[in-house]
Amino acid sequence: MSHYIPQVITCKAAVIWKAGEALKVEEIKVDPPKTGEVRIKMLFASVCHTDILYRDGFDQTLFPRALGHEGVGMVEAVGENVKNVLIGDIVMPVYLGECGSCLNCKSGKSNLCHVYPLSLTGLLPDGTSRMLISGTGERVYHLISCSTWSEYTVFDSNYLVKVDPKLPLPHASFLSCGFTTGFGAAWRTASVEEGSTVVVLGLGAVGLGAIGGARTQGASKIIGVDLIDLKGKKGTKFGMTDFINPKDSGKSISELVKEATGGLGVDYCFECTGVSSLLSEAIESTKVGLGTAVLIGTGTDPIGHFNIVPFLCGRTLKGTVLGNVRVQSDLPTIINKSVNKEIDLEELLTHEVSLDEINEALEITKQPDCVKVLIKF
Ligand SMILES: NC(=O)c1ccc[n+]([C@@H]2O[C@H](COP(=O)([O-])OP(=O)(O)OC[C@H]3O[C@@H](n4cnc5c(N)ncnc54)[C@H](O)[C@@H]3O)[C@@H](O)[C@H]2O)c1
Ligand SMILES: [Zn+2]
Ligand SMILES: [Zn+2]
Repeated sequence: MSHYIPQVITCKAAVIWKAGEALKVEEIKVDPPKTGEVRIKMLFASVCHTDILYRDGFDQTLFPRALGHEGVGMVEAVGENVKNVLIGDIVMPVYLGECGSCLNCKSGKSNLCHVYPLSLTGLLPDGTSRMLISGTGERVYHLISCSTWSEYTVFDSNYLVKVDPKLPLPHASFLSCGFTTGFGAAWRTASVEEGSTVVVLGLGAVGLGAIGGARTQGASKIIGVDLIDLKGKKGTKFGMTDFINPKDSGKSISELVKEATGGLGVDYCFECTGVSSLLSEAIESTKVGLGTAVLIGTGTDPIGHFNIVPFLCGRTLKGTVLGNVRVQSDLPTIINKSVNKEIDLEELLTHEVSLDEINEALEITKQPDCVKVLIKF
């Protein structure tokens, strides 16, 4: 039992006040953790495209809000009844829990636990926030129960994973969402079979994760698709066998994928661009009667024309959050693969900034050589 009595901490966080506006690094007050919660001193965080969506208005209602959902930190304080971590432990926040006994956990198929669900309320499970703007006392919303772009953050102890000390901390940050999502989509959502053919649309950290997952599952052909040639170079490092840049021809992505697969299309397509209008292309890239498209990317643009006939022709469409990765049962497997260098997460790290440079970080993501921007506290 710890004798440390945590007090309110004053620190800095990157806060969004209005959709589409730049973030402001604000002085905030972070309350001590309540029962079942932990307060974390963040060490590293990173940028996932979903943060950019939240900046741009994916949710138009919850402001001010401290953004960021990828990261790793040290437990600074624990509330009553926290059994799984101690002060000083290194942990990564995750936005899903796993109770192990609800309908979905028992199914062995889903990672969407009913007891510790994905929270889109901007509040902790008790319906309140632990962050206030210093001076005004205005409540600051959390982001999907994490808010990692903050020097200190509080979250429910059921939404964390202890980090193997052999895993470099930046790599832990990357595994808390993006890469894990793609890897899991190939492994857990689609269960890609040995020898199958795969196309991955969009080669950010999510798409590179899907390539890595497909390679680990033994796919024989893994086609990467991106508008930026440099992304193809990264794809090769994770196991991509072919690259298509749709800008190089006037043809659609599905036509190009069919050309590269003897006219049949692929067994599995992973949509990792977040361009909603590519949904039809993703489905049409897969084989008649057999193909599966996995929708991972989320965007704010309209889906546009959805061609229903290819879908009726025996194709399957699946959606996923965090690649169906169960945070207690599956995430340690991906962590082990990273520690053993079966997956080289260092390849993802292209830029590093401080919290004060958060708006620059979001701009950097547009550069062709950018995969992951690391925020060092
Ligand atoms: N479902 C989930 O659980 C989950 C988790 C993490 C991220 N996401 C979503 O996944 C998507 C990818 O995230 P990320 O962090 O890897 O993003 P990212 O911006 O780093 O990567 C997207 C890639 O898509 C490419 N791209 C954009 N438009 C394209 C087009 N028309 N054709 C081909 N390529 C195109 C870009 O060049 C870029 O390389 C985002 O929409 C994000 O919100 C979903
Ligand atoms: Zn459960
Ligand atoms: Zn994410």
